[in-house]
Amino acid sequence: MKLLGLSGSLRAGSFNTMALRVLQKLTSEGAALSLYDGIGALPHFNPDVEMSALPDVVADFRRQVAEAAALVIACPEYAHGIPGTFKNALDWLVGMPDFPGKPVMLINTAPRASHAQAALREVLATMSARLVPEACVTVDLREPDSHARLQAGLHAFIQVCGDGA
Ligand SMILES: Cc1cc2nc3c(=O)[nH]c(=O)nc-3n(C[C@H](O)[C@H](O)[C@H](O)COP(=O)(O)O)c2cc1C
Repeated sequence: MKLLGLSGSLRAGSFNTMALRVLQKLTSEGAALSLYDGIGALPHFNPDVEMSALPDVVADFRRQVAEAAALVIACPEYAHGIPGTFKNALDWLVGMPDFPGKPVMLINTAPRASHAQAALREVLATMSARLVPEACVTVDLREPDSHARLQAGLHAFIQVCGDGA
């Protein structure tokens, strides 16, 4: 099963990207997680551009999302919201015909942050993604049990996706 990881942070030392890298090493059960690294290179979303000639980077982004059986999203909170670069990436997926029903595992690496997670849930639900509640985990990567909790979430995700996705 092909999983695609999307980090909402462009920071080199990002905890969110780190969580996805940890999960990459924990994948088993016939699953493989690759990380999409082009979020920062996507142009600003513009419906006029979407309706005319889709930029190559956007077409490639959509192709990678389409080819993935499921998405793993780890995204920080900026000013109580979704970082602009990540919302921009999601906006490019709104008009993608095969996005509805895509299973999503949501990771929150900041236990104190709740606004961005709530906003992400609202946006993804509006896009008709299939958020898998048992796979959504909040972890502090500095805590010793963080890898085990990520692994448990991933295990639940693969089980659910394998059963119904
Ligand atoms: C511009 C900016 C705004 C932030 N706003 C919030 C916030 O509203 N709530 C919060 O919990 N953390 C906030 N943070 C802290 C980040 O969420 C935190 O540093 C997180 O680790 C960033 O994710 P990353 O490590 O994946 O880059 C903010 C950080 C920045 C740079």
